[in-house]
Amino acid sequence: MSERQDLTHVPNMRLMLIIGSVRPGRCGLPVTLWAYDMLMDCRGVDIDFVDLMETNLPFMNEPKPPKLKQYEYAHTREWSARVEDADAFIFVAPAYNEGFAPALRNAMDYLALEWQSKPFGIVSYGQGASEGGARLKESARSLGLVPARTTVAIRDSRSRVQDGEFFADDELVRSCSRMIEDIRRLHAELSPARSAGSRVAERVNG
Ligand SMILES: Cc1cc2nc3c(=O)[nH]c(=O)nc-3n(C[C@H](O)[C@H](O)[C@H](O)COP(=O)(O)O)c2cc1C
Repeated sequence: MSERQDLTHVPNMRLMLIIGSVRPGRCGLPVTLWAYDMLMDCRGVDIDFVDLMETNLPFMNEPKPPKLKQYEYAHTREWSARVEDADAFIFVAPAYNEGFAPALRNAMDYLALEWQSKPFGIVSYGQGASEGGARLKESARSLGLVPARTTVAIRDSRSRVQDGEFFADDELVRSCSRMIEDIRRLHAELSPARSAGSRVAERVNG
């Protein structure tokens, strides 16, 4: 098979876009819809839009540590399968108290192995977007996720949302495009090792 034919068989990257705020009237929805539109313009990306307001995960209530993957509850098994299925993530996160939103932290804490060795990007917003984004990056890295070099920090998000729509400038568009490209590159680098790892795990586990 020629190299050209091979390229046509490269599977799409399955990217999970997670909106981290669950507040009614959240600024996060227009920001996330902007990121969604940016992704829709990219070829080879399948988007799974996750609204934590709809997933309704309770505060992390699994009796066993996530690393064991012995989940008691259906809500965890469903969340696990969805995250397992994703190749990469974009977290859209508001700055809360110099950190990031607790609903997102909770959703991350539920799982462990499902996140490992997968790339992620961050769109943070609010005046403390840079600091909140930095905290989120540290937490995600501690779960084995691999950060994109570029992050998008929108300090003036409030003034950019009008009538439920987010208005980006050219710089934000460029930075979001760069982040998506970083994620793609990381996905291409990391996914062969991940697939080999899961084949080994399948053999070991029978
Ligand atoms: C609980 C809470 C804590 C916040 N803490 C900070 C903060 O430490 N620094 C900051 O710049 N903005 C802070 N903000 C402002 C939010 O970043 C800003 O309102 C953002 O738009 C909230 O996102 P959301 O509307 O999608 O929930 C806080 C807002 C809330 C609700």
